[in-house]
Amino acid sequence: MIVAKNQTFYLETEHTSYVMDILPGGMLRHLYYGSRIGEDSLAYHHLLQERSMSPLMMAGDIPASADTIPQEYPVFGRGDYRSPALMAEGEQGRRIHELTASGFRIVEGAVLPENLPCLDADMDDAATLEISLKDRVTGVEILLYYVVLEKEDVIARHAVIRNATGGPVTLRRAASLAMDFERADFEFLTLSGTWARERHINRRPLAQGVTAAASRRGASGHQLNPFAALVGKHTTESEGEAYGFAFVYSGDFRIEAEVDAYDSTRILVGLNPETFSWRLEPGEEFTTPQVLFTYSDRGLNAMSQSFHSACRRHLGSCARTHGSRPVVVNSWEAVYYDLSEERLKEFIRNCRGLGIDIFVLDDGWFGHRDNDRSSLGDWYVDRKKFPEGLGGIIRCCHENGMKFGIWVEPEMVSKDSELYRSHPDWCIHCSGLEPVESRHQLVLDLSRAEVVDNLFGQLSRLLAENDISYVKWDFNRNLTDNGSAFLAPGRQGEHAHRYMLGAYELMRRLTEAFPLVLFEGCSGGGGRFDFGLLYYMPQIWTSDDSDAIERLKIQYGTSMVYPPAAMTAHVSACPNHQTGRTVPFYVRGAVAQMCHYGYEMDAGRLSETEREQVREQIETHSRIEPLLETGDFYRLENPFEGTLCAWQLVQKDGSQSYVCAVIQRAEPNPRGKYIRLRGLLPEKYYRVQPLGVTLRGDTLMHAGLPVLLPKAEEDNGPRQEEYAAAEFWLACVRRGEEE
Ligand code: GLA
Repeated sequence: MIVAKNQTFYLETEHTSYVMDILPGGMLRHLYYGSRIGEDSLAYHHLLQERSMSPLMMAGDIPASADTIPQEYPVFGRGDYRSPALMAEGEQGRRIHELTASGFRIVEGAVLPENLPCLDADMDDAATLEISLKDRVTGVEILLYYVVLEKEDVIARHAVIRNATGGPVTLRRAASLAMDFERADFEFLTLSGTWARERHINRRPLAQGVTAAASRRGASGHQLNPFAALVGKHTTESEGEAYGFAFVYSGDFRIEAEVDAYDSTRILVGLNPETFSWRLEPGEEFTTPQVLFTYSDRGLNAMSQSFHSACRRHLGSCARTHGSRPVVVNSWEAVYYDLSEERLKEFIRNCRGLGIDIFVLDDGWFGHRDNDRSSLGDWYVDRKKFPEGLGGIIRCCHENGMKFGIWVEPEMVSKDSELYRSHPDWCIHCSGLEPVESRHQLVLDLSRAEVVDNLFGQLSRLLAENDISYVKWDFNRNLTDNGSAFLAPGRQGEHAHRYMLGAYELMRRLTEAFPLVLFEGCSGGGGRFDFGLLYYMPQIWTSDDSDAIERLKIQYGTSMVYPPAAMTAHVSACPNHQTGRTVPFYVRGAVAQMCHYGYEMDAGRLSETEREQVREQIETHSRIEPLLETGDFYRLENPFEGTLCAWQLVQKDGSQSYVCAVIQRAEPNPRGKYIRLRGLLPEKYYRVQPLGVTLRGDTLMHAGLPVLLPKAEEDNGPRQEEYAAAEFWLACVRRGEEE
């Protein structure tokens, strides 16, 4: 709900309030964000004062230094020395603005950022506050949008910058969100890592100065996810405060927290100003991407659940993809580039009877791609490998009870390709320099409409001419040689964002043209795992690391923001190809069950017992899937801290739950542990399988379930199993049925 009274705005969700006001004089001041409070006047609620070396201004009738005023969209050069949200340069090089509120409106439903991914599904019960700010001297106008999702405790912000001056204006910085806190007792929580080790949880205390998470890779990247949270020092999964900020964008970003000398913290979220500028002609507008934020006073898990619900209910493809997702078998780790029609037909036949829904032909099927040095850009089948085209393989899939899926990497080009030979200038390059190669490939300049058109033409032909049910969309390198040969010299700074807009346009056109195809995002695994990509594709290959034990951390970290229903995980062969580790088959299955599910191995190499296990695992997954799709996800045991990792899914009405606990390393003579469940109905009774006991919800949540660590018999006495998993099912029983 949004309430406006006495120049004060109250944005209210079920558990939170966000309050700001317009000061006499017009400055838009931030007043409060946190647990839900009344609609009191918060005029008393300030720490305004004069500071030495900090110019004085009037905050209403209170004399105050500008950098003691918490603000909603701060500017540069008028006495607030903290980082500004906006830097805009006018014709004569003027960079100074003074923004004052010139009006507001409250709109039912959501006002969406145009041509950008955003929360747009099922938005009838959302409300939007639009506040206009204007620089009376230059005529630059800013429209701030706050879309309030009451049930999810999420607010989405974006800004529109309008050039109402007489001449061109160049934006050097245009944040989507600025928020000031008059405290600095936070830790900065990020999801960091690298290829095959994505989204590990990292927490560090803020200190005076700037702490940031950013990318200048042309992609959100494996290294730092476009998310950060400000959390209390003692915040745990179930207790304490957490402010989470997630950027709905897949390219360069920067999220910074700046602590000043007086212990206030400014958070800025937006396009990375280091790689961004944008020229606006008179009358033109620039729309920033959307950022989602939420507050929890019930720990990190509640913060995550708010993001999960907002994503599953409102974010583009995630909200629009209903029902069960296919179990896939992917060729990559099984055969890599060693493809032939005969070999794959045998591979497919070996999957018969396992319950797998889709066979996915990964890299290597097109052009003359026998390794990673050629053919990207030539999206037609290699007839040497597939004399019948894709038709033979697709028919074989159908005969064996499966559909067919395919791998593409549309944004890339190999030098050894027809596309490159006919359009050498279509790759991103910088005149006079050989473009830098990475994985032997170059990036196509998607800021250019004809490149997007060409790719749409090739890929839509591929999808129209073949019965393809699933597309894995990869992106295996980051951008270099930034800039575009096709942009005017004064517009080179627009390239990173224009690239992303072009990529989104291609994704939009293809996903709209083929609504029945399931698109999965991928970028060398999880290098573009963000809400921007999830808007177009409801699931993302979480990591190229398919080792079950490594996946515990990756999946656990990813769940901090993204719902498990957005992740995919496959059971792969052992010794694992990334780590060399061998983990029991059933443990690999249990770990992958947390996500949308599949296999990445040659079924021909499975023993009869393993084939039986595959069937059972797929059966189990069909029971878990409804919980994945609509239930609440709880992290119970943290793999970054102990030997145990455990998580739980609970149906929204509390009637069912699935719990999985995995032991991730052997310890001598271990004790075992109780895992305390969450989210159950305290007074209801649950039948717990496989223990065969019936217990009250509160017993399970407080006394917990015992996880004993299995022992293996060795000649010289028992030793600890290195890796093990325990799965539990809970179902509410009716009154009178409890034993
Ligand atoms: C990336 C993907 C892998 C696989 C290869 C193929 O690394 O993440 O799953 O598709 O590309 O080249």
